[in-house]
Amino acid sequence: MELMAKKETTSPVIQLRGLKKRYGIGDAEHYALDGVDLTIEKGEFIAIMGPSGCGKTTLLNILGLLDSSNDGEYKLDGTPVDNLSDVRHARIRSQQIGMVFQSFNLVDRLNVIENVALPLTYKGIPRLKRLKLASDMLKNFHLSEREYYMPWQLSGGQMQRVAIARALVNNPSIVLADEPTGNLDSRSSHVIMRELSDIHQRGNTIIMVTHNPALTTYASRVIHMLDGQIASDTKMTVVPDKAVVEKVPLSARNAKQTATPEKTVKKPTKKRSPKKTKEKKK
Ligand SMILES: Nc1ncnc2c1ncn2[C@@H]1O[C@H](COP(=O)(O)OP(=O)(O)O)[C@@H](O)[C@H]1O
Ligand SMILES: [Mg+2]
Repeated sequence: MELMAKKETTSPVIQLRGLKKRYGIGDAEHYALDGVDLTIEKGEFIAIMGPSGCGKTTLLNILGLLDSSNDGEYKLDGTPVDNLSDVRHARIRSQQIGMVFQSFNLVDRLNVIENVALPLTYKGIPRLKRLKLASDMLKNFHLSEREYYMPWQLSGGQMQRVAIARALVNNPSIVLADEPTGNLDSRSSHVIMRELSDIHQRGNTIIMVTHNPALTTYASRVIHMLDGQIASDTKMTVVPDKAVVEKVPLSARNAKQTATPEKTVKKPTKKRSPKKTKEKKK
């Protein structure tokens, strides 16, 4: 019961209705997104999977307000954002969205610490404070000794860690990550997944595209896409430290939603088990 009470009732952070994105004209016309309906609650950790070309990156770019749809509706924190100006989009991005791209997108002429500090510029934080925050973030990624390197002096894995540090330095409430560990060895992947998990556990929303099924163990929900649509949507019940205990198909979720506390260890089927102490484990 305490666990149920702990789960706040919040409005969805993201709501998509019939979202479509079209590329090409005439015979070449093609829907990269072909009617996506999706509701994401605050604090979910979503893994998006699906074959190459199914629309994952297109979806993340639209969620991150870097691109717009041709049809349908996108509400962020309950507000339609499709028709806002670029300036408003940029402001929303700098205040609440952190993006990690497949292709790093580091600024070549800035060194590592300046790259990481960049998102803080738009928030009007003074330079010294920015560098201090960037330095703290780089420490989390074991990159302290690379602060004054230029991007071209780094390995691919290091570049990606810098890119992720930059996406997180703002403490964004929504993190959008497009295959963030795609280029990394398993140890570096683990560092990044731990950082994302940490951000998730602080109540933020994570939406991550991945090809690696092993990484879905960090997620509270796994979405499979196919041909610009959502093919399946599964809620995962996870325990801390990422062991997956049970899966609840989303169709059954509405009925069970509040009865599926995230930290359930094992649910008694009918009778209440008296020993629930394990749930208190943190
Ligand atoms: N800028 C673009 N111009 C034309 N077609 C595009 C563009 N971006 C993506 N597409 C097409 O949209 C579809 C979805 O692409 P994408 O979202 O990148 O897929 P995924 O990330 O799942 O691999 C693909 O068929 C791709 O070729
Ligand atoms: Mg992609």
